[in-house]
Parts: sequence; structure tokens; C-alpha cells
Amino acid sequence: MTRVLAIESSCDETAAAVVEDGRVLSNVVRSQTDIHATFGGVVPELASRHHLGAVVPVVRTALQKAGLGERLEGLDAIAVTEGPGLVGALLVGVQMARGLALAAGLPLLGIHHMEGHVFSAFLGDETRPAPPFVPHIALLVSGGHTEIVEVAGLGRYRVLGATRDDAAGEAYDKVAKILGLGYPGGPIVDRLAAEGNGATHNFPRSMADRDSLEFSFSGLKTAIMVHLERQGAPTSRAALADLCASFQAAVVDVLVLKATKAVLESGYGRLHVVGGVAANKGLRAAVTAAGAKHGFAVEVPALRYCGDNAAMIAAAACARFQAGALGGVEIHTSRPLDDERLRIA
Ligand code: KG4
Ligand code: ZN
Repeated sequence: MTRVLAIESSCDETAAAVVEDGRVLSNVVRSQTDIHATFGGVVPELASRHHLGAVVPVVRTALQKAGLGERLEGLDAIAVTEGPGLVGALLVGVQMARGLALAAGLPLLGIHHMEGHVFSAFLGDETRPAPPFVPHIALLVSGGHTEIVEVAGLGRYRVLGATRDDAAGEAYDKVAKILGLGYPGGPIVDRLAAEGNGATHNFPRSMADRDSLEFSFSGLKTAIMVHLERQGAPTSRAALADLCASFQAAVVDVLVLKATKAVLESGYGRLHVVGGVAANKGLRAAVTAAGAKHGFAVEVPALRYCGDNAAMIAAAACARFQAGALGGVEIHTSRPLDDERLRIA
């Protein structure tokens, strides 16, 4: 049995969690979105400052909720997101984790944020036991990343395709900003899209006809801007909902098309959709339908594990600890998932 306390502070969520062999004992997330909403996006300097104020109470609450009080003796290791992310933000979590590990004499594991997202599909809690780690194709969709990854095993990742420009979540956030809907845009656009008709406007499905697994979302954003210039801003909620639904249909179509292609070519017969955008209702429905149509299994984490959290970081750390992979911490802003550092010797 392995019990890990993890801290996540790579972007605008300060999070801590205690996980035992993939089973979540506590999962505390303090979001800063209110602070950044005023600016329409994450302000790195503000993010670091608010992580500093939040990290101690968030860790303390995670320990208490896991029934550990303030005691670290019941843990086997401390884990922390080491990157990719904002350096100043990462540093806060890393320094806290270093301090705790040193004080308690516990090993410290630096975890790749996207490996954490991969493990969000293997979490167990009161709703289900932690499923065993199995090879699959992962569609990783967040605010900073959009990629299709072959997950052959722990630390055996191959990036099959990624976005050439904007990430899917970034496209949602930018389109929401253009429409003056607020930040973060994903959940707002998703809600409006549910009320609209996605066939109203035919926005481009970028790179859909290419034989690659790469994505591009900046053209779609431009298409929306051109549309607004020509036709003006939507004047009713129904027209706004149709616009959001049409944008969402364009994003979801390409994500599902490429993910389906990857799964069918891989032979794994299993697709996991993870990351903040995996919370999207339209995407969840479309991947489930694609799985049913083509006969592959689909796993989408519970909503609370889609956005940034520390439970997923702890789960990855549990697996790495059990594999004897105790690599310490190296802060980075952009290592890919198939970087040498993630391989297990
Ligand atoms: O994984 P995440 O919490 O942070 C990153 O690692 O980036 O993802 C955040 C992104 C944001 O761009 C947000 O707008 C998007 O996920 N998002 C959504 C939804 N909920 C969050 N996008 C579309 N539909 C949603 N329901
Ligand atoms: Zn994330």
C-alpha cells in the first residue's frame, strides 16, 4: 500500500490531495479564477502570489480530510507537479513539497502535469474502486495542451499528434473573450452550446482532411472573428447559443475524428479523454457515441477530476513510487510527455 500527499500549483489552482493506491482520501482545490477573470486570463505574477497565500491552508485541509490531522508519518511520499506550468507558480508548490519532505524524512517525487491528467482516469473514490492501469490512447485536452498520446505503460508515452497553435481550452477561452462572455470561457460556452443548434453556422474543421493527428484551432478563432465582423454580434440569447454550439461542433468534430483514428490505428481499443476540456458535455457525448459506433472503450473522468487537481498528481506518484522511480524534482516549463525524464529505467 502506498499513500502519497501531492501538491499542484502549475497554473491557477492551488491543490493538495492524499491518495492511497489510486484511491482518493482527500482532494482540495482552491481556484483563483475569480482573481484572473478581471484580466480575461491568468496573470502569472498574481498566480504566484495567491498560491503563496493558499498553499499552507490547502495542504492542511487535505491532510485533515484524509484523517491524518497534521501528521506526515502516515505517508510514504510527497509529490508535486514539477511542470509544465508557470515557473513562479510551480515554485510555490515545489518549495512547500520540499519543505514537507525534508521535515518528515520522506521521498519527494516531481510529477509531469500531463502524466497527472493521464492518471485522472484511474482514480478511485467513494463512487468506484481505482481501476488498474491499462494501456490506451489518451486525448489530452486542457488550457495549455491538446494532444493525442499513446500510453503503452507507466512512463511509456508517445505523442502521436499535438496542436500546432492554440490548445482546445485556449480556443474556448479566446472565443468567449471575443464574445465578451467572461473567463474561463470553456464552461460558459459549453452551457450556451447546450441551448443552441450546432448546425447553424459551418465553421472550419481545421486539418480534418489531413492524414495526421495534429490539430490547429487558431483558424477557427479567426473564422469566428470574421463571422462577427460580417454579421455583427448576436442580438439574442438564441443566436448566441447557436454561435457557441456551432463553434463547439467544429472543435468536438475534429477532436473526436482524430482521437477515433488514433484508437482504431493503435489496436488498444480504448480511449481516455482527460484534462479541463474533458468536462465538456458535447465532447463527452460525442466520444461516447464514437466508442459505441466503432467498438472501443471510452473512459472520461468524473467532472471533479477533469480540471487541475492534486489527486491525479498523487495517483501518478503512487504508481511511480511502486515502480521505484524516485527521480526528485526538476522544474520545467515545456518538457513533452515522451521526454527522457519520464521513462522508467
Ligand atoms: O486542465 P485544466 O484545468 O488546466 C490546464 O492544465 O490548462 O484546463 C483548463 C481549460 C480552460 O481552458 C477551460 O476553459 C477549459 O479547460 N474547460 C472547458 C470546460 N471546462 C473547462 N472547455 C470546454 N468545456 C468545458 N466544460
Ligand atoms: Zn491541467
